[in-house]
Amino acid sequence: MRRTGLDRVYFTSGGSEAVEAALKMARQFFVEIGEPDRSVFIARRQSYHGNTLGALAVGGNEWRRASFRDIMAESRHVSPCYAYLEKLEGESDDAFGTRLAEELDAEIQAAGPERVIGFVTETVVGATSGGVEPVAGYFQKIREVCDRYGVLLILDEIMCGLGRIGTLYAFEQDGVVPDIVTVAKGLVAGYQPIGAVLMAEKIFRAFYDGSGFFQHGHTFIGHATACAAGLVV
Ligand SMILES: Cc1ncc(COP(=O)(O)O)c(C=O)c1O
Repeated sequence: MRRTGLDRVYFTSGGSEAVEAALKMARQFFVEIGEPDRSVFIARRQSYHGNTLGALAVGGNEWRRASFRDIMAESRHVSPCYAYLEKLEGESDDAFGTRLAEELDAEIQAAGPERVIGFVTETVVGATSGGVEPVAGYFQKIREVCDRYGVLLILDEIMCGLGRIGTLYAFEQDGVVPDIVTVAKGLVAGYQPIGAVLMAEKIFRAFYDGSGFFQHGHTFIGHATACAAGLVV
């Protein structure tokens, strides 16, 4: 396994809870470092990040969102990396990836680069498309765009992470490391309810050197039985 530097973890009781925690963590990170104007998430259409309100808001599955749109936080959506449907005739994988990265760049510009918190996406799409992997080079181009504007890359590997596609993290196959990654399903193989948010040291440090407290929590986070089951799995 390649070293990722994602050595800090926040346990939750499931996948949607992990995404909620990740979104709040990303927002508070910018509050901690003195960039409180950042309030916008960009995610992808035809995606799923959970059914709680924050996760649903970044999710791009219109069927699941329809009844709740009026009470959801606003988020912006760009095209998924779905080569089978979205690649143009004659377009190479590389050109397709570049076009999608340019679309993200334009969306960040439209939102105002100083207002964007993060780009949220599944590394390999699960619930809304079924095993849709990115084209080679896509995530490297996306990482570059995020870095250009100080936008966090938040990968949701609740479905595809922890060995499910052959490497511990799916992103290892794309040559990038996110700032935050969410995991859940593979963590305990279904024996206990658990999820987790893993973060880069710079995220942890901002909290540690700042307020010292992530303004979040649920009664059962870090549940001993669930964590023990995770260790065994
Ligand atoms: C990518 C992704 N994110 C989040 C979730 C939500 O996880 P949970 O059902 O544990 O709340 C799922 C569930 O299928 C998922 O596939």
